[in-house]
Amino acid sequence: MALRLGDIAPDFEQDSSEGRIRFHAWLGDSWGVLFSHPADYTPVCTTELGLTARLKDEFARRGVKAIALSVDTVDSHRGWIADINETQSTEVNFPILADADRKVSQLYDMIHPNANETLTVRSLFIIDPNKKVRLIITYPASTGRNFNEVLRVIDSLQLTDSHSVATPGNWQDGDDVVIVPSLKDEAVLREKFPKGYQAVRPYLRLTPQPNK
Ligand code: BEZ
Repeated sequence: MALRLGDIAPDFEQDSSEGRIRFHAWLGDSWGVLFSHPADYTPVCTTELGLTARLKDEFARRGVKAIALSVDTVDSHRGWIADINETQSTEVNFPILADADRKVSQLYDMIHPNANETLTVRSLFIIDPNKKVRLIITYPASTGRNFNEVLRVIDSLQLTDSHSVATPGNWQDGDDVVIVPSLKDEAVLREKFPKGYQAVRPYLRLTPQPNK
């Protein structure tokens, strides 16, 4: 059955451009972003991997490890990484899983046969430190993903976990956030949100971003 939000991300052992990886052990206490792309030496993927490498500090600041996957070999990955480094003016600083036997692709339902029988689509999973899947997105092969959006979702998830807030549509870091509907006790609200809140409706309560 396909993975769903809240499921434990399946553990696996697989080769990568940085050696053999046991996924859960490799994640440790970090958040993780696991993303697949159709194949090595393809143009859109080259830009995506370059972008991810350039966002290294942004991922690190949030305690996130990135790991890519395609259904090619370690040797192929190594040659391609040299190309990415050169063309994208960066250094790929995260592993690319060499899923030539499609073990991980099948475990994570990354091959959608009606799109392509053998290659992975652009799947992306955000995994929290408890190994729970918190976001799943699937893009077509022809559309590169927006990694600023991935960082935005991580910020939102981390705020939810630490401050009992949700984030409105198009929210950006620093904007007002929404108090989760389950929080009703006035004393708790005063303690958690000392800057106060605006109740537009009883179910729609806005408060300044608590960690700013
Ligand atoms: C790619 O770069 O991965 C790609 C580009 C166009 C169609 C399919 C894949």
